Amino acid sequence: MNNIAPSHIAIIMDGNGRWAKERNLKRTAGHSAGAEVIREITTHCSYIGVKYLTLYAFSTENWKRPKLEVEFLMKLLEKYLKQELPIFIENNIKLRTIGDTSRFSKSLQKVIKQTEEKTKNGTKLTQVLALNYGSKDEIVRAVKRLNEKKLEVNEENIEANLDTSGMPNVDILIRTSGEVRLSNYLLWQNAYAEMFFTSTYWPDFNKNELDDIISDFNNRERRFGGI
Ligand code: IPE
Ligand code: IPE
Ligand code: MG
Repeated sequence: MNNIAPSHIAIIMDGNGRWAKERNLKRTAGHSAGAEVIREITTHCSYIGVKYLTLYAFSTENWKRPKLEVEFLMKLLEKYLKQELPIFIENNIKLRTIGDTSRFSKSLQKVIKQTEEKTKNGTKLTQVLALNYGSKDEIVRAVKRLNEKKLEVNEENIEANLDTSGMPNVDILIRTSGEVRLSNYLLWQNAYAEMFFTSTYWPDFNKNELDDIISDFNNRERRFGGI
């Protein structure tokens, strides 16, 4: 593949529930299957030279789901982090999170912190998990930080105080499952992202489809407002 790797890929991993329903399984089985796909995509991204992979794992709106599903997702996240730690370390991957994790249980917060701490020297790729993440919530938090620090409200300062501080803007945004909307994901950071919507449900997404998207991205002309 002669493609230039994008620096930042962001994914809205959607369709776990419908994937499960089609197989007469519980929605939770779809979430478990979806978690497995993350490893393949992360390893592949690091292999081809992507620097940031930002994954929407739980939105500020997902608390509206049935209590049992939310609890399942929290447990799955804890299991995922514990399971992936050796793989992150082996592959020189750093974990970072965006979103307001203070609403999570103390034990989950601890696992997140430990994983971040133990992978902090990873230089190949940063996997960014969006957890209790909502773009509007993030922007409000950034503006509050500016007020606290008595900083001028301008683009540079807002950007530096978002949860994604220091990260490049999104090059490729992918949403699986056929829905064509942003669902409160990285509104600021997607300002000039190239967007790709695939009908594939997240548990069926794979590195070949990602490669096709990256090829397509390489053929697009990004003008950023110029001519
Ligand atoms: C995405 O899959 C995973 C999360 C939002 C946590 P969904 O659970 O939204 O799956 P669908 O959209 O109902 O199929
Ligand atoms: C977006 O998917 C959130 C995540 C993938 C974590 P949703 O399934 O929650 O979004 P809507 O409700 O269809 O917009
Ligand atoms: Mg969904």
